Amino acid sequence: MARRKKIYEGKAKTLYEGPEPGTIVQYFKDDATAFNAEKKAVIEGKGVLNNFLSEYFMTGLTNIGVPTHFLKRINMREQLVRSCEIVPLEVIVRNYAAGTMAKRLGLEEGTQLPRPIVEYCLKDDALGDPLVTEEHIAAFGWASQQDMDDILSLALRVNDFMSGVLYGVGIRLVDFKIEIGRIYDGDFQRLIVADEISPDSCRLWDIETGQKLDKDVFRRDLGSLTDAYTEVAKRLGVLPKGATPIRPTLIN
Ligand code: TYD
Repeated sequence: MARRKKIYEGKAKTLYEGPEPGTIVQYFKDDATAFNAEKKAVIEGKGVLNNFLSEYFMTGLTNIGVPTHFLKRINMREQLVRSCEIVPLEVIVRNYAAGTMAKRLGLEEGTQLPRPIVEYCLKDDALGDPLVTEEHIAAFGWASQQDMDDILSLALRVNDFMSGVLYGVGIRLVDFKIEIGRIYDGDFQRLIVADEISPDSCRLWDIETGQKLDKDVFRRDLGSLTDAYTEVAKRLGVLPKGATPIRPTLIN
């Protein structure tokens, strides 16, 4: 078989050239990183779980009319997506205070926010993804005002969908991050949800017990990350065959 061309290797995924122009293969790795890659581990099975969970959420979004880059899952670790130009922003939606927002504003983790709050961070690992305002975004030309209107609307639609789906299986969507892609149909530009939607980029708490079912389990050493993601996948009915929990191996 011809070797595929690697386009990009990220922290949790590797991207390869797809079989047709305008497509990309996303390979989900087992690598976990936190605190701007200061903490690293290989967590066997994480990539498989995230591949299936991201497929589940992206398919659901597509089905309710929210455009995404997802085309199809290829196998246990790979999915075919539309290639797009990534807007250099991490778009964060928060329903409850947690993480950096709780710290920044002195709020107790778990405080319900008066309404969903959307924040933007510049995608720049060297700078630690700093929080930026719409003023910065407009002034530096990272996105236009029209883009920002569309991004806000996409982010809130994703939030409503995800909150509802997860609420249905007893999980609170505390916050999450999405990335946005630009695609061109001739001269016409559209924005779509890109990258992945998985417990790596969400905070998910059990509604009854408050148990964390997301990457905070790894960040804060709260137990097995695979068990947590497996629980989310099981509740949503998307647990792939063969994704048995295996203990994490710390490599750093
Ligand atoms: P945030 O509380 O800002 O940062 P941290 O995860 O360091 O406490 O994160 C809010 C949500 O967005 C959380 O679910 C993690 C997710 N997120 C990412 O997945 N990647 C990122 O680069 C950032 C900034 C956030």
